[in-house]
Amino acid sequence: MTAIKIAPSFLTADLGRLADEIRAAEAAGADYLHLDVMDGRFVPPISFGQIVVAAIDKVTDLPLDIHLMIEYPERQLETFVEAGGDILNVHVEACDDLASVIGQIQNLGRKVGVAVSPETAITTIEPCLSEIDQVLVMGVNPGWGGQALIPETLEKISQLRALLDERGITADIEVDGGVKVHNVAECAAAGANVLVAGSVVFNDEAPVADNMRELRQAIAGATSHSS
Ligand code: DX5
Ligand code: ZN
Repeated sequence: MTAIKIAPSFLTADLGRLADEIRAAEAAGADYLHLDVMDGRFVPPISFGQIVVAAIDKVTDLPLDIHLMIEYPERQLETFVEAGGDILNVHVEACDDLASVIGQIQNLGRKVGVAVSPETAITTIEPCLSEIDQVLVMGVNPGWGGQALIPETLEKISQLRALLDERGITADIEVDGGVKVHNVAECAAAGANVLVAGSVVFNDEAPVADNMRELRQAIAGATSHSS
């Protein structure tokens, strides 16, 4: 059983204390930091860009998992790498020429992720699966933290895991959006091995360390039952 990674996303964190929030997640055993870049075009909100990513890179040693919810990602890749990006996830829906965008990220020496929105079928990325490091399966409509997991996501993850196994491809499956303590077991059982954790980690109910511990415990319970 592959170890499950947790990638906190801070959209619902206390942003006035962002550095402290990130350090708390790192101290609590986060594996990556998931950064949600939104351009107001691919998705309605505008979040942040390279300048903020570079500032975040200075306060953490965690690998930066950049989720580009933007149009024309090919125009921005180099500067996100300069800002400290380690994994660059582009949306298949935003790429006219996905193969060329993948090649561009590889040439920049970074890991390639391809993201699929809820209404997008896995078949759209089938031809590139052997070229990429990670598939980011959206569990909610992109744009906002704190939404509920769309139930069909689990079936999509299972299909993708079966496809990867059948072809002997070792790409990670990252599920993003709606991951909660009560559904991590199902996400892991379906085949996801990287879990983006936003509002389940950053909320007003409990400190980051407690939330991370609870999530880890739920994952440990899930993986010990299924192995
Ligand atoms: C949504 C973002 C997600 C989001 C996850 O567009 O891509 O990464 O922040 O937040 P939760 O875990 O609260 O759904
Ligand atoms: Zn995201």
